[in-house]
Amino acid sequence: MQSQSSTSCPSLEGRHILLGITGSIAAYKSAVLCRLLKKAGAEVQVVMTPLAKQFITPLTMATLSKNPILVEFFDPENGAWNSHVSLGEWADCMLIAPATANTLGKMCAGMADNLLLTSYLSARCPVVVAPAMDLDMYRHYTTQRNLDDLRQHGVHVVEPEDGELASGLVGKGRMAEPEEIAAYVGHLLCEKKKTLSGKHFMVTAGATIEPIDPVRFISNHSSGKMGYAIAGELAQRGARVTLVSGRTALPCPEGVQRVDVLSAEEMYTAAVAAFREADGAVMCAAVADYTPTTVAEHKLKKGDGEMTIPLKRTRDIAAALGSEKGHRLMVGFALETDNERVNATEKLHKKNFDFVVLNSLRDAGAGFRGDTNKVTFIDCQAREELPLMPKTEVAQKIVDKIESIIK
Ligand code: C5P
Repeated sequence: MQSQSSTSCPSLEGRHILLGITGSIAAYKSAVLCRLLKKAGAEVQVVMTPLAKQFITPLTMATLSKNPILVEFFDPENGAWNSHVSLGEWADCMLIAPATANTLGKMCAGMADNLLLTSYLSARCPVVVAPAMDLDMYRHYTTQRNLDDLRQHGVHVVEPEDGELASGLVGKGRMAEPEEIAAYVGHLLCEKKKTLSGKHFMVTAGATIEPIDPVRFISNHSSGKMGYAIAGELAQRGARVTLVSGRTALPCPEGVQRVDVLSAEEMYTAAVAAFREADGAVMCAAVADYTPTTVAEHKLKKGDGEMTIPLKRTRDIAAALGSEKGHRLMVGFALETDNERVNATEKLHKKNFDFVVLNSLRDAGAGFRGDTNKVTFIDCQAREELPLMPKTEVAQKIVDKIESIIK
C-alpha cells in the first residue's frame, strides 16, 4: 500500500465514510479527523461503541459529521432499527479510529455484540483501522497477532506513533495524527487499478515560446492543464510517462518524468527522442506554427514606423511522429474556431492519429486556461460528443479510450 508519510488529503467529494469510534482516550482526535474528512468533501456517518461515548460526546460528533450518531441496534425510545447491513452497503470506506485492542480482538474473532462490529462484519468496502492503546498492550503478542490477521484479510492498518501516552509512559501506541489518517483514506479511495503498467507514453503539453529577441517572444494562451491531467492519469494507472512540457506554471504530476523545453524546435527534438521508446503518444501541446527566421542578438529598438518580423514554419511534431508510428498509438488534439469537425477529421488522417480530441473555442467552458473542457472524440469510425466536465475527468475519458484501443 501507499506510504504513511504523505499528509495531504486528496478530494473525497461525494465519498461515504463510516467512521467507527471505540473507547480510547484518543477518541478526542476523532473530532478533528471527522472535520478533515468533511473538509475533503466526504459524507461522514459516525458509529460509536457504547464505551466511546464516555470519551467523546455524541453531540460533538453529530454536530461535526452533520448526521445523528449511531450506537445502539435500535432506538430505545421508538424502536427504530439501525441497519448495520445498509450502513455496510452505504460506506465507500469504514474507518475505525481509534481502534482499541478490545475491538481489534473482536473483529478477528467475528464477534458482533455492538453496532460498530456488526457494521464491520457487513462492510463490503475497504476497512481502515488506526489502533490506539498503551505501549504494552500494543506490543502484546495477541494484539500483534490480531493486527497481522486483519492485515492478511485485507484490513488496512495506519500504524500508531511512538510518543508520550495517556498513561504517562512513552512508547508506540499513540494513535496516528488525524491528518495522516485522513490522507491515508484519501489515497486509498483514489488509488487506481494499474491497468497500464508496462506501457510507456509520451505526452506533449503547454505552450511553446519562440524568441524574437532576448526580451520578447511569440507564444499562446495554453495553460498545459489538459496535457498535465492526461499525464497524471496515465501515471496513476501504472504507465511510465515522459511529459515533454512547454511553458506552464503547473507542478509535475506524481510519478511523471518531465522534460522542459521552450521552443517548437526543442519540443521536436525531445518528443522524437521520447517517442523512440514509447508505446504511444498524446500530442496535447499548443505548438507554434511559425517562428522568427532569426533571433535578434540585442533587444530590438522601437522606431516611429511599423515593424515586420519575418516568420518561418516550425516542424509539425505530430505529423513527423505519425509518419513513423507503426503500431504505436497516437492521440491528437484539435482546437478549432470554425468548421470544427471537418478540420479535426482532416487532422486525424493527415497526422495519422488513432483519434482526435476536438475542442471548439465556441463552446462555453472549453479551451485555454479554464478547469473544464467540452470535447468530441473523432476516430475513423465515429464521433462521440462528451458533456462539459472538469479537465481531470476529460483526462480519464481519454485514457479510458486509449485503454480500449491498446487492449
Ligand atoms: O494542425 P494543428 O496544429 O491544429 O494540429 C494540432 C495537433 O497537432 C495537436 O495534437 C498538436 O499538439 C499537434 N502539433 C504538433 N506540432 C506542431 C503543431 C501541432 O505536435 N508543430
